[in-house]
Amino acid sequence: MTTTAQESAVTSFTPAELYQRILHNLPTFILDVRNEEEAGRSPIEGHKQLTSINIPYFAFLEDEDGCAAQLPPEREILVVCAKEGSSHYVATLLAERGYTTRYLEGGYLSYGNFYDLRDVVNATWGRIVQIARPARGDLSFAILSGGKAALIDPLRHTHIYTDLIAQAGAQLTHIFDTHVHADHISGGPALAQETGATYYVHAYDAIHPIDMLPARIDYTHTQEGDRFQIGEVTVTTRWFPGHTLGQVNYRVDAPDGTSALFTGDGIFLRSFGRPDLGGKGEAWTPILYRSLTERLPTMVDDTTLILPAHFSTLDEGGSTGIFAATYAEVKAGNDALHARSEAEFTSYVLEHLPVFPAEYVEIKRVNIGLSTPCDGQANELELGKNICALAK
Ligand SMILES: [Fe+2]
Repeated sequence: MTTTAQESAVTSFTPAELYQRILHNLPTFILDVRNEEEAGRSPIEGHKQLTSINIPYFAFLEDEDGCAAQLPPEREILVVCAKEGSSHYVATLLAERGYTTRYLEGGYLSYGNFYDLRDVVNATWGRIVQIARPARGDLSFAILSGGKAALIDPLRHTHIYTDLIAQAGAQLTHIFDTHVHADHISGGPALAQETGATYYVHAYDAIHPIDMLPARIDYTHTQEGDRFQIGEVTVTTRWFPGHTLGQVNYRVDAPDGTSALFTGDGIFLRSFGRPDLGGKGEAWTPILYRSLTERLPTMVDDTTLILPAHFSTLDEGGSTGIFAATYAEVKAGNDALHARSEAEFTSYVLEHLPVFPAEYVEIKRVNIGLSTPCDGQANELELGKNICALAK
């Protein structure tokens, strides 16, 4: 087929459009032209209507005809690469062959760093906003009430949070990390430096569990029972050791009776945080068992909203994109809360641990100030989805 340059010019699609298509299960055909290893490490995941195939860019260079023949001519082909350049090239080539095609703006890198904001609660006393990084399965939250703001588990791109808080006309006063994360770089210490708000983490997590070196960041220790006032709501720290020794949950109580528990990597909606990322799985698994069975029921009632720091699959949020459920719903759908003995739980956990990503040791160093990556290194450390939950 012969076309003019203008006819073959291709347009792009944004990470936001991609996420909307995935969330609402719209028929979507992805051609991923990254190399096999990269595409395998950070695949684009979605519901049933998402089809994704991987044909590396270099294969198109070697055999254009053979590669193009693998694509359905009746579908729109959405081309994805690492940083945009090769997907633009392949999309142009396919357009010249008569395909309807677009390429992802900024490549997978921009999808990996894309944030999605949604209100979980919007009431007379204020809001709880979910700030998700969907490609990684990372969730963080803002509490906005009475002109004040608090953040829970903020992620690395701090402007997302400062923009949200500025738009709400609020002042950031408290930054809470549920624990020192291993899978992603926290935005907490940087936000504290930038805004003057206090950064809270439990002191047990302010030491590297493998290097045994103390933190070189400014933090304030928070422990069981600490209470904080954010506008009209109170936040209470509840110790929940297991995923890390210093993992805490934060319980929010609002004047209308609404309660929520930010559970970090303690309990997720359908799973729970693996206890081996500090290199001490055998010792920490029984501790996690007691947190799940004895401590958690003292922190919630059936209507308390559970707000975790990760999701494993998009199904957990349905089409709403809000990854929240009441404790009653979590109890019904989460195996971890169904009765079994400590011995059964421990052997189950230790037999089902997923791979331990080597980057996680370094990310913990970054999060307590023992190492400072540049932006490119940070992107590399965080590539792909979190592996914080126990594998099914
Ligand atoms: Fe974690």
